[in-house]
Amino acid sequence: MTAVDDLDLRIHQGEFLSLLGSSGCGKTTSLRMIAGFEQPTSGEVLIGGTDAVGLPPYKRDVNTVFQHYALFPHMSILDNVAYGLKQRRLDKKERHQKAHAALELVHLEGRANRKPRELSGGQQQRVALARALVMEPRVLLLDEPLGALDLKLRKDMQVELKRIQRDVGITFVYVTHDQGEAMSMSDRIAVMSEGRVEQLDAPEAIYDRPASAFVAGFVGEMNVLDGAVRTTADGVATIDVAGGSTVAARTTGAPAGKVVVGIRPEKVTVAPGGDAGPNRLAATVVTRLQLGSSIQVVAQLTDGTEVTAVVPRTGADATVDALATGDRVCLTFADTAPIVLAA
Ligand SMILES: Nc1ncnc2c1ncn2[C@@H]1O[C@H](COP(=O)(O)OP(=O)(O)OP(=O)(O)O)[C@@H](O)[C@H]1O
Ligand SMILES: [Mg+2]
Repeated sequence: MTAVDDLDLRIHQGEFLSLLGSSGCGKTTSLRMIAGFEQPTSGEVLIGGTDAVGLPPYKRDVNTVFQHYALFPHMSILDNVAYGLKQRRLDKKERHQKAHAALELVHLEGRANRKPRELSGGQQQRVALARALVMEPRVLLLDEPLGALDLKLRKDMQVELKRIQRDVGITFVYVTHDQGEAMSMSDRIAVMSEGRVEQLDAPEAIYDRPASAFVAGFVGEMNVLDGAVRTTADGVATIDVAGGSTVAARTTGAPAGKVVVGIRPEKVTVAPGGDAGPNRLAATVVTRLQLGSSIQVVAQLTDGTEVTAVVPRTGADATVDALATGDRVCLTFADTAPIVLAA
C-alpha cells in the first residue's frame, strides 16, 4: 500500500510552512519522514543540505510536537521541559536556565514548579512546545498540535505560535487539515492531495490563484461552473457556461476546450433581474441568510447550478435586504473575478 507518493517539497530556512490536506493524504507520514521515524522507500530527505535518510530521529536537528503531548505526570513543568537537555548531559544549572527561558517564551514562566495536571489543555500544549523549543532544533515539526483544543483557545494559540516562531526564527513545518489555520499562520502552504503537493505558495496566492480545481475547492468557498471556451482574445476568454450564460474572464494563459470556472462568493454581487449578458448570470433566489457583517445569497442558475454571493453589509442596499426566495436576479462580477482552471 502507498502511504505517500512522489512528494517534492523545498522548505526555506526560518519559514512557517504548513502541510494542508484532508485526512489520509499523507501529512503525518511526510512529517515522520522528515523526523526520521519513517524512511522513504526512494528519494532523499535533505536537512540543511545534508542527506538525512538513514539517520535516526535523535541524530537529526529536528523536534516534533504531536497532537497528543505526553508530558511526564510526576515531573514538574520545569523538569518536563528540561528532560531532553538532561539526556544531552547538560549540567543542572544550564538545563534550568534554558528551560526557564523556554517557559518564558510560551508565557508560562510562573508555572515552572507545577505538575502537568494543574495546567489547562492549552497550557500543557505550550509546555510541549517549550519542551521541543528548548532543544533549539533547526526544524520544528508540529502535527495538528491544536487539534484537542476548543475553538477559542485554538485561535489564541494560532496567534501565539506565529509570534513564537517569529521570535525564535526556527523553521516550522505545521500539519493541519484546517484551511483557516493554515491561512492565518503560514508563510507558505503546501496543499496536499493523495501524497502529492498540489500547490506550494503563499496563502494569498493559494486563495487568489489556485492552481487546480482541487485547491480552489479546498481553500475557502468557491462557486464552480462547468464551461467551454468559445474564444480568447486580448487576454479575455469568453466562456459558455450552463444555462446559455457567458463568462468573460481576464486570463494570462490561453485556455481552450472544456474548463472549470471558479468564482469566490465575495466577488459576486446581486442585482435586480434583467438582461443577461457577459458576467450577468440570470438566477432565481433560493435562500438569503444574514451572517452579521455580510449577507449570503444562494441563487440557482437556469440549469439548477447553485451560486453563492456574499455581500458585505456596508455595501448592501435595501434591494439585497428585501430579496426573497423565488425572486429573479442577476449575479454579476468583474472579468477579473473568474478563475479559469483545466476541467
Ligand atoms: N504504517 C503505515 N503503513 C501503511 N499505510 C499507512 C501507514 N501509516 C499511514 N498509512 C496510510 O498512508 C496514508 C497517509 O496517512 P497519513 O497518516 O500520513 O495521513 P494524514 O494526512 O496525516 O491524515 P490525518 O489528517 O487523518 O492525520 C493513509 O492512506 C494511511 O492509511
Ligand atoms: Mg495525520
